[in-house]
Amino acid sequence: MAARSDLPKYTVPSLTPEEGAKVAGILQERLHALNDLQLTLKHIHWNVVGPHFIAVHEMIDPQVDAVRAMVDAVAERIATLGVSPKGTPGALVAERSWEDYSLGRASTIAHLGALDEVYVGVITAHREAASATEELDDVTNDLLIGHLHDLELFHWFVRAHLESTGGDLSTDGARTETGAARKAEQAAVGQP
Ligand SMILES: [Fe+2]
Repeated sequence: MAARSDLPKYTVPSLTPEEGAKVAGILQERLHALNDLQLTLKHIHWNVVGPHFIAVHEMIDPQVDAVRAMVDAVAERIATLGVSPKGTPGALVAERSWEDYSLGRASTIAHLGALDEVYVGVITAHREAASATEELDDVTNDLLIGHLHDLELFHWFVRAHLESTGGDLSTDGARTETGAARKAEQAAVGQP
């Protein structure tokens, strides 16, 4: 039987080439998502305006640094599995299943509302990827769980700006970035 040409020539010990290819495929989507996230975070860093500018502007940069480190670790895990990681912008845009971040210059609270939605999407998919690798590859599973510790903490930093003293989130029920941004802005000016 001829070898499948899309399979790695080698992978980590104890995984079959098929398993290595499957784990690498799961990680490639996370690589695109994290690369997209670090660019989106910088875009927000540059585009926030209004009250609390410096607090939000400066809150974002440590998140960028942490996400860039995750990008590097994911790409190097894909290579370790014997597969070529795809890190080009063209591959990211061609293969991603989500739209570009939708806000340009906007208030800090609008961006935080939209960023809440961004983190919901990234964390939900990261948790699915962690579950999908649980039986297949402990090391990849551990890598993704490690990222979730930080991603969920950063998500809370964002949500703490959107939370009332009663514990309600202003973005509750939003399904899109622009919808979340609108809800966050309305809550900030006291509109229902
Ligand atoms: Fe900067």
